Amino acid sequence: MNEIKIFSPATVANVACGFDVLGFCLDSIGDEMVIRKTDKKGIFITKIEGGFKLPYEAELNVAGVSALAMYHALKPEGGFEIEIHKKIKPGSGIGSSAASAVGSVFGMNQLLGRPLNKTQLTAFAMKGEALASKCEHADNLAPALFGGFTLVKSLEPLEILQIPTPNDMFVTIIHPQIEIKTSEARAILPKEVALTKAVAQWANFGSLIHALHTSDFGLIQRSLNDVIVEPYRSQLIPNYFEVKTETLKAGALGAGISGSGPSIFSLSKGLETANNVADAMKKAYNKTGIDFDIHVSKINKEGVKVL
Ligand code: HSE
Repeated sequence: MNEIKIFSPATVANVACGFDVLGFCLDSIGDEMVIRKTDKKGIFITKIEGGFKLPYEAELNVAGVSALAMYHALKPEGGFEIEIHKKIKPGSGIGSSAASAVGSVFGMNQLLGRPLNKTQLTAFAMKGEALASKCEHADNLAPALFGGFTLVKSLEPLEILQIPTPNDMFVTIIHPQIEIKTSEARAILPKEVALTKAVAQWANFGSLIHALHTSDFGLIQRSLNDVIVEPYRSQLIPNYFEVKTETLKAGALGAGISGSGPSIFSLSKGLETANNVADAMKKAYNKTGIDFDIHVSKINKEGVKVL
């Protein structure tokens, strides 16, 4: 096999109380990429479609940087061409850079006969993700690779846990058409937090993980709270609290900032509630005059895949 086409999904990182460690994978939104073996040594980005201004130089492109990291480590014969059909808008908060970073290494691994496992692929993808967010984090990469909910237990050594996804869980996401750079959304966060807030956050986080294991929707609802990051980043998103309030009134289990924003996610039990939440989000956001997209999706338990 010399060429492969893959789907690299969008993801939601943080999931309210799990800043930098928890994430889940979306079903209906993602990039498509073609990875091709070449005789010429090196990594070459040959096509970028989707209308976004992204660099073709491999060392400046997220997909290229992760591919180069893997290429230099494995030293395969020949090289690889990468085509990116970008569907996830950069700066949207649903793991655009992670999808690119994951797609190239996943595709190369397939073409090389799968010498690496998903944790090893995550480590190479982190190099690409770091180019976009100016620091290494894997909470979008891990769900894009593994699917479902993932918990990044540690970066050094890299350890990723797969957390079960309750059946009948749906996500509704509103993506206001403004751009927030992850690096800037990280720069506004405090370097230290009060112990009382840390205690509240890890109680919610532990409860959320337990609730996902036991499909306890009531506990999921009581755990989806972020007392550390939301107070800062919500200021970057017009009408954030109004959207959140209307979402909860429509029956969502909870809502929060998706990754570093501006997208806002909410989780619901059942498709009907997720669709009602979409209507409520629409109504709340119409008032801003800012264009937006809304997506309703199942949680994708498979992650990146060959098309
Ligand atoms: N955990 C990262 C952050 C995710 O919130 O900065 C970025 O998508």
